[in-house]
Amino acid sequence: RPRILSGVQPTGNLHLGNYLGAITRFVTLQQDHDCLYCVVDLHAITVPQDPAALEATTREVTAAFIAAGIDPVRHAIFNQSRVPGHAELAWIFNCVARLGWLNRMTQFKEKAGKDRENASVGLYAYPVLMAADILLYRADAVPVGDDQKQHLELTRDIATKFNNDFSARIAEKTGRDSYFKLPEPLIQGPATRVMSLRDGAKKMSKSDVSDNSRINLTDDADTIAGKIRRAKTDPDALPSEVDGLAGRPEADNLVAIFAGLAGLSKAEVLSQHGGHQFSTFKAALSDLAVEKLSPIAAEMRRLTADPGYIDGVLASGAERAGAIAEATLRDVKGIVGLLG
Ligand code: TYM
Repeated sequence: RPRILSGVQPTGNLHLGNYLGAITRFVTLQQDHDCLYCVVDLHAITVPQDPAALEATTREVTAAFIAAGIDPVRHAIFNQSRVPGHAELAWIFNCVARLGWLNRMTQFKEKAGKDRENASVGLYAYPVLMAADILLYRADAVPVGDDQKQHLELTRDIATKFNNDFSARIAEKTGRDSYFKLPEPLIQGPATRVMSLRDGAKKMSKSDVSDNSRINLTDDADTIAGKIRRAKTDPDALPSEVDGLAGRPEADNLVAIFAGLAGLSKAEVLSQHGGHQFSTFKAALSDLAVEKLSPIAAEMRRLTADPGYIDGVLASGAERAGAIAEATLRDVKGIVGLLG
């Protein structure tokens, strides 16, 4: 079965964007893939984190994976720092990736802001660690939201350069003409880029200062309903075809969210709701969101009340992931000429 790897940072609140863009896809893919789902704590510390909060959020993301329907018995759920291979392979890739490639990464520019001199070296090297996460498991495909596209391109560039730089040695050691296969990005579904509820031009994000801009997975029913009621819209009724959403980012976003939650396409949502006013549509959306998200929040609460169970899941996930990681690192060290 093809192998899937993806990661979610344990920083702040998980929100509807993480859920629709990534976690629901993880759940679907587990049917016919071998999956590794990683809580990327080493990525989280590229910006300052409160240590105790980091522990709590690492467990919370783990709980969200399980509550959303990922089976921790059949698939590996683990935190990144427990498998030392991520950091080791990242170092080797730091020596493969070029400064010019990293200088083009838009996420670094956004996160570092104006005070770039003061950003951590880790934040700059972040995409190299991400390439290591994926290639360590020689993953076939990586489900992510649209915002990770550039990082996946970089991952493929690093794999390609490694294969080229060491082609003779790869042939000698493995008898193959390349070592890493190029992972496929899976950016799928109607909601690969969920936007802020307050501003259709901004991505829904954990770091937005306005909590009304996002729906958190842990929000209760009243909070969800309130945020949807207050979500920005335009004055027109919903169109009956997808083309009619052009130039209407807020309407497009709410339709995409509805589609993601209902497991429908945007066209199907509009065939049911085209012509309705937003007051009507928002009420339906709010019922749907509460119906889908409330059981997940309840299950997350139940699971996080038992940290022993969560820690057991992470430990056994790391053990399985670690076995694959070790084999890759052994090969890579042999290819590069690192003894031992
Ligand atoms: P992170 O933690 O920011 O987000 C986790 C996942 O959620 C997706 N996502 C969204 N999708 C749709 N709409 C949104 N508004 C939205 N916001 C976030 C992200 O695309 C992501 O799939 N660099 C990654 C974590 C990572 C990773 C990896 C991913 C580290 N190593 C290896 C895949 C493979 C990140 O910061 O995701």
